[in-house]
Amino acid sequence: MRIFLDTANIDQIRKAARLGVVSGITTNPTLVAKEGSADYQAVIKEICSIIPGSVSTEVLAEETEAILKQARDIATWAPNVAIKIPATTVGLEATSVLASEKIEVNFTLCFSLNQALLGALAGATYVSIFVGRLDDAGHDGMEIVKDTVEVFKQYELSTQVIAASIRHPQHCLAAARAGAHIATVPYKVLMQMIEHPLTDIGIARFLDDWRRLSSG
Ligand code: E4P
Repeated sequence: MRIFLDTANIDQIRKAARLGVVSGITTNPTLVAKEGSADYQAVIKEICSIIPGSVSTEVLAEETEAILKQARDIATWAPNVAIKIPATTVGLEATSVLASEKIEVNFTLCFSLNQALLGALAGATYVSIFVGRLDDAGHDGMEIVKDTVEVFKQYELSTQVIAASIRHPQHCLAAARAGAHIATVPYKVLMQMIEHPLTDIGIARFLDDWRRLSSG
């Protein structure tokens, strides 16, 4: 399973990039707005220059023609940009057109296997299943990830499944076990994935023992 970072925070992206484990970024309008910059294009271009992998950027239009116009423009911002299009009828139509133009689409806001399947059939490069929001609504978000991965495998669909809306390290474990191709995680969760109190205790003990030996 690959790891994407789910943020538009430049500082977090730079720090995470240095760890060598992040192969892409997902952003959304909420995440970009949180950073306080109104210059969407400048933020995305900067992110694309830091991370060589795919950087998902959401369209903010609602009609097919407007989505296509915006998506084609965003696609010129950087070679590694992927267009995030919501899982609606209009989104499906736009996805199939963009896919035929070889523009990468992340079919987002998927809450069911049916939505993900249609996104894949329309030619999306990625489908994003929002696990945390499904859990919040009383469903088992990871079950949908697992089913989607199995169905895509069964029908040899090349679309990659992103486990999105990840809230804690347990979600990462479950996404890996469910066979998700990618988990897109907030910076805080990435940090939680590497931390373990026994590692800290182990390091402290080794250093202590070594200091005692060298001072005695
Ligand atoms: C994914 O692409 C989305 O940006 C993100 O995972 C949404 O997460 P949230 O439900 O925590 O807002």
